[in-house]
Amino acid sequence: MNTAPIDLLDTPLTRQTGIAVPILCGAMYPCSNPELVAAVSAAGGMGIIQPISMTYVYGHEFRAGLRRIRELTSKPVGMNVLIEKSAKSYQDKMARWLDIALEEGIRFIVTSLGKPDWVVQRVHAVGGLVYHDVTERKWADKGMASGVDGLIAVNNRAGGHAGTKSAQQLHAELADYGLPLICAGGIGDAAAFVAALRLGYAGVQMGTRFIATHECRASEVYKNAIVSAREQDIVLSERITGVPVSLINTPTLQRMGLRAGPVARWMLRGRRTKHWMRTLYALRSLWQLRRASQDESGTKDFWQAGKSVATIDSIESAGAIVRRFAAAAGRN
Ligand SMILES: Cc1cc2nc3c(=O)[nH]c(=O)nc-3n(C[C@H](O)[C@H](O)[C@H](O)COP(=O)(O)O)c2cc1C
Repeated sequence: MNTAPIDLLDTPLTRQTGIAVPILCGAMYPCSNPELVAAVSAAGGMGIIQPISMTYVYGHEFRAGLRRIRELTSKPVGMNVLIEKSAKSYQDKMARWLDIALEEGIRFIVTSLGKPDWVVQRVHAVGGLVYHDVTERKWADKGMASGVDGLIAVNNRAGGHAGTKSAQQLHAELADYGLPLICAGGIGDAAAFVAALRLGYAGVQMGTRFIATHECRASEVYKNAIVSAREQDIVLSERITGVPVSLINTPTLQRMGLRAGPVARWMLRGRRTKHWMRTLYALRSLWQLRRASQDESGTKDFWQAGKSVATIDSIESAGAIVRRFAAAAGRN
């Protein structure tokens, strides 16, 4: 009988990327600032840059922002490319950001929504990796057809645009693709991290946990709301982006209601009108979420977070979280 201890930190993700701890700090609009991305990478995980957050929320010219991260750490960082079909000018901008990131040495890309084929072509040409966010097989098939290197399974406990299935269900549904699978959603403490690795995941992508950190530049009221929220305070609202987004239930949300209005719903159903409606939602939500995340008065309370709030009970440094989780996995 083989009684050698299993090294839970030795996974396809750590082997492919060379990072020490299989933890990604997921891209977060509007919460990914360069200091947070760098802190997670410096501690042995990997921070994922959100380009709109970097430029529009934190005001960095894109290449200068990447170099700011490089001043803070020489360890690998990744970038999020949203490939939703929307305005042409937006798609061109994403493509330009991807090219700059590759020029600056970034070799790990997380794609969300749509078909990531053009991203895979560019990234593989320079020897990089593409992991694709998915909530079910339909999206995993698009990723597979495009040649992605890994899948990020976004489950029903995630912050941001949550999935509909549990981490267990998604693992069972996606394991036969034979790609590294990352668990995104609901990981707030070391026990949940270890449980995801034991389930067979090659790593985790965490968002909510990393907002409540010293390095994240979101407002203190937002961070404190995450620390005090309970699982039952997390609700899904269609009012922000037109599709369900996971947020803390605050007086503003209660006033607005959680469903899209009748006109918006009708427009979101139409083949022609749905693109306009989505663009309208996207522009409005970029502005609303940016304003809310920076507002210290607490009156603009649009705060995205997932069910992992239940296990988050203090604001700490991002590096301390990565080290604590790694130590817990190392003891197994
Ligand atoms: C505030 C917030 C903003 C997010 N923004 C994005 C985004 O811009 N792009 C993206 O691919 N995922 C986004 N996500 C999802 C995260 O990258 C990650 O998959 C998710 O937070 C994992 O769930 P957790 O919050 O339970 O850890 C966001 C999540 C949060 C909480």
